Amino acid sequence: MKVLVVGSGGREHVIAWKISQSPKVDKIYCAPGNAGIGEIAQCVNIGAMEFDKLADFAKENEIDLTVVGMDDPLVGGIVDVFEKRGLRVFGPRKNAAILEGSKAFSKELMKKYNIPTAGYTTVTSADEAYEYLKSAKFPIVLKADGLALGKGVLICNTLEEANEGVKTIMQDKQFGSAGDKMVIEEFMTGREVSVLCFCDGTHIVPMTSAQDHKRAQDGDKGLNTGGMGTFSPSPFYTDEIDEFCKKNIYQPSIDAMKAEGRDFVGVMFFGLMLTQDGPKVLEYNARFGDPEAQVVLVRMENDIIDVFEACVDGKLDEIDLKFADNAAVCVVLASGGYPVSYEKGFEIRGLDSFKDKDGYYVFHAGTALKDGKFVTNGGRVLGVTAVGDDLKKARANAYEATKLIDFEKKYMRNDIGKAIMDI
Ligand code: AMP
Ligand code: GLY
Repeated sequence: MKVLVVGSGGREHVIAWKISQSPKVDKIYCAPGNAGIGEIAQCVNIGAMEFDKLADFAKENEIDLTVVGMDDPLVGGIVDVFEKRGLRVFGPRKNAAILEGSKAFSKELMKKYNIPTAGYTTVTSADEAYEYLKSAKFPIVLKADGLALGKGVLICNTLEEANEGVKTIMQDKQFGSAGDKMVIEEFMTGREVSVLCFCDGTHIVPMTSAQDHKRAQDGDKGLNTGGMGTFSPSPFYTDEIDEFCKKNIYQPSIDAMKAEGRDFVGVMFFGLMLTQDGPKVLEYNARFGDPEAQVVLVRMENDIIDVFEACVDGKLDEIDLKFADNAAVCVVLASGGYPVSYEKGFEIRGLDSFKDKDGYYVFHAGTALKDGKFVTNGGRVLGVTAVGDDLKKARANAYEATKLIDFEKKYMRNDIGKAIMDI
């Protein structure tokens, strides 16, 4: 069969790689893709938001299944466009992707269906926000309602900081119309874990857990980024917590969406905080995480095409999802200066060291080909991923591997997975 992947990051690289392992697949296309993806798929120069052009491409090339990796096209309704054209596509429709597209929507859903999350209020004007904050407890969390490249969440320690945040989001509109509404949320403490779940509208099946490191610098300092590294599984996500989440969070979430007439097909991503009062939902995403997908999919044993098709066909209950009894760690190599400003176009050396090396994977995020050489072309450049028998071994392997790759202004965190070293 022929498969089209929509997106251009490390997540789409690992998705394309996992698809390439399926004996059912003859040809993979990726739009727009990147230089690394180009080694296993044919990259197509169509942007992820050009829905009609993508659908035309899928029709003309008789694509059997399209897999959408990114949030923007999902929230924008790419799945609806494909379905109208009679094309098979894996991902939530627009009316379900709103779970990620609007934080006000997701908070209201959780409240209505008693899904554990932080207390909150939604405001629709800056004045309303300033008034509410006068009597609020600090720290407090401000969240722009819409998509903001993972940057629309501000944790404010004082009233002054919070007032400044309201100005940034709702008056200066730093995140555009994403700041027309804002969620003001209680601050929670605990360990964070990401659990990605396959969904077919009715059934929901969690994958193995992962933990991201969102801040730019060691010790969780610096600005929020798309994610600087991950490990899987999370040893803090115990069987007991898993049972609790299945019963009180995952199944109720897909049931709630169904009850609202918004059947969710695709990957429902739960950002969880393991608080003293039990697990609570920090956020939902409507797609695989990046770089969570890198550490989860290299451990998945199923043919991913079977799983995608079961989701699209409403038969996920027939799939026995299996993960290897090992661990994986992904360390992101970024361009110095990310997430604020950085230069691009530096040659990447050392990629050949990984050819055919078992247990090591280099997933490309921001890379391009220039005169036949790989060059940096984004903030997050590569996700160096390694597996090992346990987390400590996987971590040692991943960091060892980062030494083999070099480019000017290479930057990475040195404490990805440090939390696992003490247990
Ligand atoms: P989100 O995009 O909602 O996942 O938020 C980004 C990051 O902000 C999360 O990964 C958390 O580290 C942090 N965060 C979000 N909401 C809260 C909250 N209610 N309490 C504490 N931290 C939060
Ligand atoms: N790594 C977090 C995300 O994909 O949203």
